[in-house]
Amino acid sequence: MSEDAVSRTDVPADGLPRLLPLVSGVPEDLRAHLARYGRPPYRGGPGLLIHGVEAAGLTGRGGAAFPVHRKLAVVAAARGRKVIVANGAESEPASRKDDLLLRAAPNLVLDGLQLAAEAVGASEAHLCLHPGYHPELLRALAERSAAGLDWLDVTLAEVPPRFLAGQESALVNRLGGGPALPAFVPPRVSERGLHGAPTLVQNVETLAHVALIARYGPQWFRMLGTDTEPGTMLTTVHQAPSGGSGGVKGSSAPIRQTERQVIEVAIGTPLSGLLASQADAQAVLIGGFHGTWLPMSQAATLTLENQALKRHGAALGAGVIAALPADRCGLAEAARVTRYLAAESAGQCGPCLNGLPAIAGAMAELASPRPRRRTRENVERWAGLVTGRGACNHPDGTVRFVRSALTVFAQELSRHERGRCSATSRRPFLPLPDGIPTTEDDWI
Ligand SMILES: Cc1cc2nc3c(=O)[nH]c(=O)nc-3n(C[C@H](O)[C@H](O)[C@H](O)COP(=O)(O)O)c2cc1C
Ligand code: SF4
Repeated sequence: MSEDAVSRTDVPADGLPRLLPLVSGVPEDLRAHLARYGRPPYRGGPGLLIHGVEAAGLTGRGGAAFPVHRKLAVVAAARGRKVIVANGAESEPASRKDDLLLRAAPNLVLDGLQLAAEAVGASEAHLCLHPGYHPELLRALAERSAAGLDWLDVTLAEVPPRFLAGQESALVNRLGGGPALPAFVPPRVSERGLHGAPTLVQNVETLAHVALIARYGPQWFRMLGTDTEPGTMLTTVHQAPSGGSGGVKGSSAPIRQTERQVIEVAIGTPLSGLLASQADAQAVLIGGFHGTWLPMSQAATLTLENQALKRHGAALGAGVIAALPADRCGLAEAARVTRYLAAESAGQCGPCLNGLPAIAGAMAELASPRPRRRTRENVERWAGLVTGRGACNHPDGTVRFVRSALTVFAQELSRHERGRCSATSRRPFLPLPDGIPTTEDDWI
């Protein structure tokens, strides 16, 4: 820990935001960043940051919540050439946190990338993003270079905006010149990644936390969050605009159907606080499209932490929280997303090639009037057949989403079986990319 950094008083000791700029909506340029945080506190050699990250209890913010120090330690201990990759691919369509962070606080992410690169002794650094780089990021890279802040040059790499392209082995494949498709494991990329080199892949938000832990230390990091899941996290919250989901009667103004906000919260924050204006929502999707639906009444009693969510089959995932308004059909939403997930599969393994399209077709039937009774049973049967059978966890994640939808929207399903639907609005709620790609070229 850098002693002079610890004594700084301009970062609130136990307040928010930690990652986002203090003035919301105004991206922090290098001058503002250095005034707030100072220069990156390099340790002068590999290995030294890892104990701080371990003591902080930082877990990855890209979806799996894996302990960061363990991956750092594996790559640091490896011999020869090593690579670090910052994952800003944000392939989850309902998540916008990484995009916002990269625009609002690019220097914090880049500090974390540099500090983690030093900690593992990397000689090559990449930052993976969707096509169309933000000007804020390009400016940050140029300003840092002029100021001599960086330990390593960073290469920007475009990855296609596909659901699987953000998976770590897909990124490594893409960086190696191939398609952005997941590879079979083992080996893990931390053992054998880009061109065979041990490769550390960390989510960009995770790296921003590393940058703060390097400056303020593990005790500071633990001042927010819970004992088992310390720190803060970025969430993307989708909800009906306050004032209801149907817009303003008699108004000619365009009706906003969904309000999307990226909010930084302490882990362990009650969900009821985040969804205070959504008391009439029917259900909440937690984690993202590989996540879990929970009834609103249950979600409102929970805190935003894996320990609490796990008891209900849910997880924080990529930090997506979507409160489905009472006027929509949950089955129709679930069917749209399942169709997207099935179309996004890389089709490399049997479960994705055969199972997911069958499940998506059945979900479309369940979302329609008078589905056949055996269709629900077919979904269950097919879900059992694909689980645990893929090279990556895409089939398992899709099945988790589908099963929770059928549980939470069971009453709606009974209505559909009687030829009815309780929805009064047909407008889609969860965001999907425009047009579902269908050709192999979309992976490049
Ligand atoms: C289907 C799939 C898609 C993923 N997409 C992303 C992504 O867009 N961004 C990301 O950071 N991690 C994504 N991940 C997780 C990465 O594989 C990897 O675990 C993560 O980048 C590691 O960073 P972290 O430990 O800091 O979270 C995805 C995983 C899966 C299975
Ligand atoms: S399980 Fe599906 S998404 Fe994963 S690698 Fe196999 S085909 Fe691709």
